[in-house]
Amino acid sequence: MVRRRFYDWLSRYYWFVGLFDDCYKRRALELFELERRMRFLDVGCGAGFVLRRLAGRALIFGVDSSCEMALSAGRRSGAHVSCGDCFCLPFRDGSFDVLFCSFVFDIFDFSEQKKILLEFSRVCAPSGLLVLVNNTRGKGVFFLLSGFYLMLVRIFPKVLLNKPIDGFSVVESSGFAVKKRKVVGFTEIVVCVRDTE
Ligand SMILES: C[S@@+](CC[C@H](N)C(=O)[O-])C[C@H]1O[C@@H](n2cnc3c(N)ncnc32)[C@H](O)[C@@H]1O
Repeated sequence: MVRRRFYDWLSRYYWFVGLFDDCYKRRALELFELERRMRFLDVGCGAGFVLRRLAGRALIFGVDSSCEMALSAGRRSGAHVSCGDCFCLPFRDGSFDVLFCSFVFDIFDFSEQKKILLEFSRVCAPSGLLVLVNNTRGKGVFFLLSGFYLMLVRIFPKVLLNKPIDGFSVVESSGFAVKKRKVVGFTEIVVCVRDTE
């Protein structure tokens, strides 16, 4: 609830704030093929950067727990965007061929991430894709710098909500299999395929 109010407030500025990590979302979109008939869902779509980019390329949907963000994303992208929670998505089983989730999964702790993956697995079609873009510790100098960022996260937990995580180890024990993991600076892109059973 507190987070939702924070994101409702942030929605006024997010069209600008979200530009800073737009390059990672673009990189992630290059890692898989999208066809016109495919159903694509951006979970925690924020101001709708990804939805705008994909307009006309597939059947595009967005969902965000902040109704203000959802409104803003719908207005800016023209996609179908609903207000809803990633723990309980307002869609039927197997509704989507691709689930995309950037800088949302890393807001939650390990046990919450497991629950979210179960929900993702429910709405994802068999052999469908899950693409996660998360904050991570990175390599070399990025590893050291992200240690500093982690310290800031502990000091300002109400503002710096995204924490560095290792999406690979969480996803490995879920209904998805990791196909690719790319680390760029402080960001990981994890492309996974849903198991067929
Ligand atoms: C850091 S922003 C990322 C927005 C967008 N994905 C991007 O990369 O620009 C996090 C987004 O996740 C949304 N969010 C937070 N908790 C959520 C939840 N439980 N279910 C769905 N969306 C959620 C927030 O409202 C916010 O729009």
